[in-house]
Amino acid sequence: LTIQVDKPVSKVSPTLYGLMTEEINFSYDGGLYAEMVRNRTFRPNRSNVPNWILVEDGSAQARMSIDQGTGPSEALPHSLRLDVARADESNPAGVLNEGYWGMPLRPNTTYQGSFYAKEDSTVVGPVTIGLIANQSGKVLATTTISGVTTDWKQYTFTLKTAAIEPSAANHLVLTVAHPGALWLSLVSLFPPTYRDRVNGNRIDLMEKLGAMHPAFLRFPGGNYLEGDHIPERYEWKKTIGPLVDRPTHPSPWRYHSSDGLGLLEFLEWCEDLKMQPVLAVYAGYSMAQEHVNPGTDLDPYVQDALDEIEYVVGGTDTKWGAVRAKNGHPEPFQLNYVEIGNEDFFDRSGSYDGRYAQFYKVIKAKYPDLQLIATTPVKSIRPDVVDDHYYRRATEFFNDTTHYDKTDRTGPKIFVGEWATREGSPTPNFGAALGDAAWMTGMERNSDIIVMAAYAPLFVNVNPGGMQWETDLIGYDAMRSYGSPSYYAQVMFADYVGDETLASSLENGGPKLFYSITRDSKDKRLYLKLVNASSKSQTVDIKFSGANLASTGKLVSLEAHDTQATNTIDQPNNIVPVESTLPNVGSTLHHTMPAYSIQVLSLDQR
Ligand code: AHR
Repeated sequence: LTIQVDKPVSKVSPTLYGLMTEEINFSYDGGLYAEMVRNRTFRPNRSNVPNWILVEDGSAQARMSIDQGTGPSEALPHSLRLDVARADESNPAGVLNEGYWGMPLRPNTTYQGSFYAKEDSTVVGPVTIGLIANQSGKVLATTTISGVTTDWKQYTFTLKTAAIEPSAANHLVLTVAHPGALWLSLVSLFPPTYRDRVNGNRIDLMEKLGAMHPAFLRFPGGNYLEGDHIPERYEWKKTIGPLVDRPTHPSPWRYHSSDGLGLLEFLEWCEDLKMQPVLAVYAGYSMAQEHVNPGTDLDPYVQDALDEIEYVVGGTDTKWGAVRAKNGHPEPFQLNYVEIGNEDFFDRSGSYDGRYAQFYKVIKAKYPDLQLIATTPVKSIRPDVVDDHYYRRATEFFNDTTHYDKTDRTGPKIFVGEWATREGSPTPNFGAALGDAAWMTGMERNSDIIVMAAYAPLFVNVNPGGMQWETDLIGYDAMRSYGSPSYYAQVMFADYVGDETLASSLENGGPKLFYSITRDSKDKRLYLKLVNASSKSQTVDIKFSGANLASTGKLVSLEAHDTQATNTIDQPNNIVPVESTLPNVGSTLHHTMPAYSIQVLSLDQR
């Protein structure tokens, strides 16, 4: 392998590595969004109220039902009605919430809770709130709320644990000790969150994302943007403001979204991890082959996208910028990219060309600097960027690492908005990580044209029923989380990205050997990424020309004994990057890569 250190070939996009996200696999509810109460707005199914159980301790007698006639807001017009026929201090009645596969509790921790309630003219209260261990029934934290009135009102409380064992095998109860009727809605409980945000995110997952040094976040989807049907699309206006004003909505991934992580929370997530938003706007197509015709029918959707952009970037003197300020964020956000729709190549009506052009003209007229991403090539107008998606087997990626080598540099830029090697479940195995790493070498080499790239899906809740799509980057349950081998490959590539590619050539390269060479021109540091996807170790003789290198470098290596090896929720650290010093660096380097390995060599120029 010959590397010409003094011959930069092209720029590496500073936004190459980022994140793609949507509500899938319980990514937000039961995932990143730290809410602990599942079905907090008491959405019923045909026969019961999922995730809620009636509590009748001892001789208590009660029934729970959904009252469609009263709720705390227009958005939440129904509530849970608890009719208590018999109860006293020793025999309380109430309801229990099981959480998202448990209620994760840690020692000496304060949990912030709230609920909306009203009662009938008989006093059923006070309401006792408790966190209870499932097995022992032990009360791990408790408090009471008195003075519930006959009008809807929000009540807040805190629950503090003592020196308990960390566990998710707990539940939440709300009980009363007197006969009468109590109505409840929007029962919420939050642990400490990342950067202490109210209504915020899980700390462990945010830290895992932070370690990927993502440059951008593409949201809110994915299929989640489109919905199965037009009325089930992502309606951003219904996801902002107080939680009580968010009606929630059905998602295409077979569960309902609380919309607690709404548009502003997406933007604050970007702010917290210093990512730029890549805002996908609904473009008039939903997945059951429903589309809106370009022209006047589409006008309201285009206006909705304009309003959404104004919510993101507008000053407080604009209509939607003022709403954002009222929602708690006066400062506008920076926005460079807007994506028009998602995977519109599935729209068999062929309407995307016209729909994209209509959005493009109107948005560009108001925001000429915005880069507008098309989800599939269009003919009537030249898109700024086209979004390509790849879900493949490792072999397909090995055979296609040169995919973008010949792409026309005068055409639209490329956003590889979703890609993954789909081998392994729920999270990718090492064979998949090898496919991913090989593919990333090709994207990096072509990152003059590929402005951004994101693996998808990002998250999976590994509990039974938590996964709708196999092979996801990061797995978790209520208490714990882990990175897959593919996650660590991403961390390594994004950690050592550089700003220019260098001229290089590989002669007599062995089987399934892939590489990418970049340089940080400011720090004068080379990053050589090597991928050996074969079952045998391989030696690479590297020759550096045009500059002298320091005699030692840094080696980061991710290795496994076989392609099926992986990380799991119980064994999260089977495969993690290992750092060591690389000796004997000179104008040449004789480097042996173990079988099945992904490596970064960080080499300083002298
Ligand atoms: O990442 C899972 C799904 O794959 C996305 O929602 C969709 O855009 C793609 O088909």
